[in-house]
Amino acid sequence: MSDAVEMEKQVAAQAAAELVESGMVVGLGTGTTVAHLLPALAKRRLVLRCVATSPRTEELAGRLGLDVVPFTFDHLDITIDGADQISPQGWLVKGGGAAHTREKLVAVTAERFVVIADSTKLVPVLRPPIPLELLDFGLESTFERLGAVRRRAVPRSPDGGVIADFMGEVGDPARLAARFEATPGVVEHGLFPPGMVTTIFVGRGDTVERIDRRAPRAGPGA
Ligand code: 5RP
Repeated sequence: MSDAVEMEKQVAAQAAAELVESGMVVGLGTGTTVAHLLPALAKRRLVLRCVATSPRTEELAGRLGLDVVPFTFDHLDITIDGADQISPQGWLVKGGGAAHTREKLVAVTAERFVVIADSTKLVPVLRPPIPLELLDFGLESTFERLGAVRRRAVPRSPDGGVIADFMGEVGDPARLAARFEATPGVVEHGLFPPGMVTTIFVGRGDTVERIDRRAPRAGPGA
């Protein structure tokens, strides 16, 4: 990874860390951009409870002194995570780190879902691979019905799912997402719709572009 890209991840992560306030319950994504977020958050010495989307994030956050707790919440104040691709319409592809099932759950539970990315993640159209998590039971049948899927040479997810990638044409992401959701054996897919995302911070050199996509969801009791 070039120094320029690392710098963009760093400035995007720093901007997102500044949205976090003491007392919040924070969802932490997974990946190399999130690896910049964790020290930026830890440095602020806020009183937080954090939910991690992968054992890697849990381990790193814990080492930095962040309080990582089990995901037993029906509401998170904010979730911050990276992305593999961001379309002009705001669709995301996630799951390059195979954590997309947990990442989607933590994203939809949050009042604000904030995406942090370097500028290489902005793409004119979404393209394969689209990450999938599949049930091991009946795997050959699921592969057959999905077509154009290849198993990824990585360990299963922490929830026992098989990680694979859809390599066919993406076309309309809403249609493809609906197709995955209608396919028995698909635990989760890496297409995240625009309505899920509150804000995107994109690193541009040593500056950050902020793209606001939707208002924060109402909190509990609102
Ligand atoms: C992990 C993810 C990551 O957020 C995505 O792959 C981006 O990773 P990175 O910040 O390393 O580019 O979805 O499942």
